[in-house]
Amino acid sequence: MKRTILLLGVLIWTLPYCTKEKPIDPGWEYDPTPFNLEYPDFFPILEIPADNPTTVQGVLLGRMLYYDPILHKDSTEACASCHQQAFSFSKPGNIIPHINLGWSGAFLWNGKIQGTLEDIMLFESRDFFETDLSRLQNHPDYPKRFYEAFGDKEITYEHIAKAMAQFERTMISANSKYDQYLDPDQFVFLEDEEFLGYDIFFSEKGDCFHCHGGILFTDNRFHNNGLDANPEPGLSEITGDPFDVGRFKTPTLRNIELTGPYMHDSRYETLEEVIDFYSEGLKNSPTVDPLMKNVYKGGIQLTPQEKGYLLAFLKTLTDTTYLHNPALEDPFHE
Ligand code: HEC
Ligand code: HEC
Repeated sequence: MKRTILLLGVLIWTLPYCTKEKPIDPGWEYDPTPFNLEYPDFFPILEIPADNPTTVQGVLLGRMLYYDPILHKDSTEACASCHQQAFSFSKPGNIIPHINLGWSGAFLWNGKIQGTLEDIMLFESRDFFETDLSRLQNHPDYPKRFYEAFGDKEITYEHIAKAMAQFERTMISANSKYDQYLDPDQFVFLEDEEFLGYDIFFSEKGDCFHCHGGILFTDNRFHNNGLDANPEPGLSEITGDPFDVGRFKTPTLRNIELTGPYMHDSRYETLEEVIDFYSEGLKNSPTVDPLMKNVYKGGIQLTPQEKGYLLAFLKTLTDTTYLHNPALEDPFHE
């Protein structure tokens, strides 16, 4: 009984507010369809925030926003202008590719944004693009789409961030030659030199796996990998901690063949140069990572042949299906 009275009270109290609003246009419906995210069993579980379940409507909206310059305050560019599918959602420059970011919890080279994809997307839309919400609100199509995704007529930065995070979670690359090799149902084998490179990568010899290990090929943490004797601030810019000087986000090595130039400042044009750096170009500094055990001798000291093997292995991480996945393409040009 008490509960009924309470409910009635709430109803009477909110009624004037409801009636003031414009009626929902006919044909608008909030009944989102769950979206099934698919990835191999050998990937870690993808955690999804309880308040932003992945839905067909949300993913499509996020995809539209990703490709639509309307998000930018001057409409000069879209996210996809810099994050291009043909380059694993990067483009030549220091642009971090978008690949399996659903598994990441810290974003940007210096770790400026820590948290979920929703957090980085909020930053990208509100602070980086300075999206003008009224332009979306007055658009002939978007208000309906936001309503269908979130059941709210008012478009907010949070809704934009949620939609874009949903789309970003679908940006999964799991079909490189290396993935096919791991899948027991596919009879794909590595060539001898690829396998020898695998051995260098995943053993103490190359030591790459300590930071670029696991199936994601990144630990999603921050390290000083010995680029400079006087490193740039990196993570310390955000934390203020002198121990974080020179520490940058470990980038994934998936699709690495396609995302040069390399490092946060694009200092290396080619993967050959990167391998030379790890082999004999390491610089010691007070914050160099303890995992860079060979820094005292300048690097892991590979022979030219071993460098070739390591390169061959890195190329098995290329997933060309990701570059042509129609579900990730520009939705406005179908
Ligand atoms: C002008 C080019 C450009 C545009 C446009 C752009 N980005 Fe970026 N993006 C970058 C660069 C450069 C970085 C790396 C910057 C850094 O870490 O300081 C980056 C990094 C990111 C990252 C971090 C990835 C990681 O692994 O930490 C995300 C996520 C991202 N961008 C999303 C977006 C979204 C969403 C949009 C559209 C709202 C967008 N970007 C538009 C250039 C761009
Ligand atoms: C101590 C951790 C650590 C180890 C060990 C390590 N890396 Fe890295 N790697 C990083 C970090 C951090 C970056 C980004 C550094 C920057 O840009 O300032 C990076 C960058 C790279 C890049 C450039 C990626 C890009 O998108 O620009 C490649 C390629 C790479 N590493 C390959 C390797 C290989 C191959 C090995 C083994 C020989 C290796 N790494 C060992 C942490 C590590």
